[in-house]
Amino acid sequence: MEQTTQSVISMPRIGDKAPSFKAVTTQGDINFPGDYSGKWVILFSHPADFTPVCTSEFMTFATMEKQFEEANCKLVGLSVDGLYSHIAWLRTIKEKIEYKGMKNVEVNFPLIEDISMNVAKMYGMIQPNEDSTKAVRAVFFVDPKGIIRTIIYYPLSLGRNFDELYRVLIALQTADEFNIATPADWRPGDDVIIPPAGSCGTAKNRMDGKEDMKCYDWFFCTRPISKEEVLKKVLKKK
Ligand code: BEZ
Repeated sequence: MEQTTQSVISMPRIGDKAPSFKAVTTQGDINFPGDYSGKWVILFSHPADFTPVCTSEFMTFATMEKQFEEANCKLVGLSVDGLYSHIAWLRTIKEKIEYKGMKNVEVNFPLIEDISMNVAKMYGMIQPNEDSTKAVRAVFFVDPKGIIRTIIYYPLSLGRNFDELYRVLIALQTADEFNIATPADWRPGDDVIIPPAGSCGTAKNRMDGKEDMKCYDWFFCTRPISKEEVLKKVLKKK
């Protein structure tokens, strides 16, 4: 792939306050992230309406919306297409597309129109060496205080794994609730890591006396948290 001249683009980073903007969406006007205060929100971009990878992604995400809602998380999509294109595409998905057992799929979360590319540029979603006129597949996880907690980028050709996005959300919430970190491939019910990443002091010093702690070495200790505990605290399930 031939590279265009590198330009310096400022992009929000993990730990930053999510840049604010007002936008027109398929569900009315929004004020981001202010309207989502007290909730998690996933802001994600797709390259273009009426394209196959994006269609498979929207059908999958819309089908999982309730699952994200139960984890106190709202979804907000964006592409540089206009509102009427968004509306026509979402109607086509609902009325015509049957894919992998999903049909009559209604997309009820807002899809931002960003013809000016102002929001896409503000969030580093336009990556000119991939495509200068379309957003890449970016995913921003913003917490209830409006702080960006995770950013994932995919190229145009690669559809996202929405189970992984859900796993990331639950892992972030579990880390916050229990003050721990999560190891590779963690899923609810797996052991978690103590102390949380980035804190000082060894796990052994801090956790001495806790019988359920398991140490692989002085710097690597885990403890169990049951799936039920995670579901109870994070998903508020009984
Ligand atoms: C797609 O969603 O299928 C797609 C969009 C833009 C470029 C390539 C693929």
